[in-house]
Amino acid sequence: MEVTPLNASFGCEITGLDINAGVSAAQFKPVRAAFEAYSLVIIRSKPLTDETQIAFSEHFGKCEKTLKGNPAAGSVFARQSNIDINTGETIPADDRRMFYQKANMQWHADSAFKPRASLCSILSAREIPGAGGDTEIASTRLGYAALSDARKAEIEALYAEYSIVWSRSLIGYQFTDEERADMYRVRHKLVRANPANGAKSMLIGAHAMNIAGWEQDKGLALLNDLCDHCTQPEFVYRHQWQDGDVMIWDNRACVHRATPYDAGAERRLMQRTTIADPAAEALDQEAVVA
Ligand SMILES: [Fe+2]
Repeated sequence: MEVTPLNASFGCEITGLDINAGVSAAQFKPVRAAFEAYSLVIIRSKPLTDETQIAFSEHFGKCEKTLKGNPAAGSVFARQSNIDINTGETIPADDRRMFYQKANMQWHADSAFKPRASLCSILSAREIPGAGGDTEIASTRLGYAALSDARKAEIEALYAEYSIVWSRSLIGYQFTDEERADMYRVRHKLVRANPANGAKSMLIGAHAMNIAGWEQDKGLALLNDLCDHCTQPEFVYRHQWQDGDVMIWDNRACVHRATPYDAGAERRLMQRTTIADPAAEALDQEAVVA
């Protein structure tokens, strides 16, 4: 197994690891170390199966259950696809089920809107389109490091509020009453230090709707500033998918977004598993706000 950095401190590629053959605790150790060091790990692989993806994901921790509104709701998979889960046919671009795609094109950190924030997401390419559908990842760790000392001091102790009802409203999507029933507005610490190496990052992106205790205009202006700052080209890696690729990103230290492909003509199937951050509970006491 070989770990090759993409950049001095953000992103790396791992070759020579066959996830489908099963990954032992000893084999996982350097994967976890690379994840903590680089925030983004790309593993070149044969396409995973649902079973091998779950087994691999569980090395990071417990997989979250996927929320209502996703075609794979109730399972551990967030299915990102234009292929109907039941019929195998492509879903028309204007179908309600394709709204997630528009939502995915906003910079965001997965599950920031959940009472317990996420450690990481693991996205596996099962079917990729001939063109388009790249994923962009921005490092909020690099972005944080590049802030002025005054800005760092200003935001150090802040908590932000997050809501998926908010982020989806930005693209004109309304949840049904049933879907909204278990959705909360939550509060998390904005600046977070990685327990393994102390590197600080920020939990920002489309789900972040305000700074706790602030007027929303002012809170959003700060959050948007921070997001614009972190998504400058020098902090962004753009991944062109190859069949079977597995990408792991640190939701504590990255925001990401999807880019378009021709969903009317091409088929795309990505399966995502998401792991809750075991350290989040202590950091974000009383996370549920409303
Ligand atoms: Fe996402």
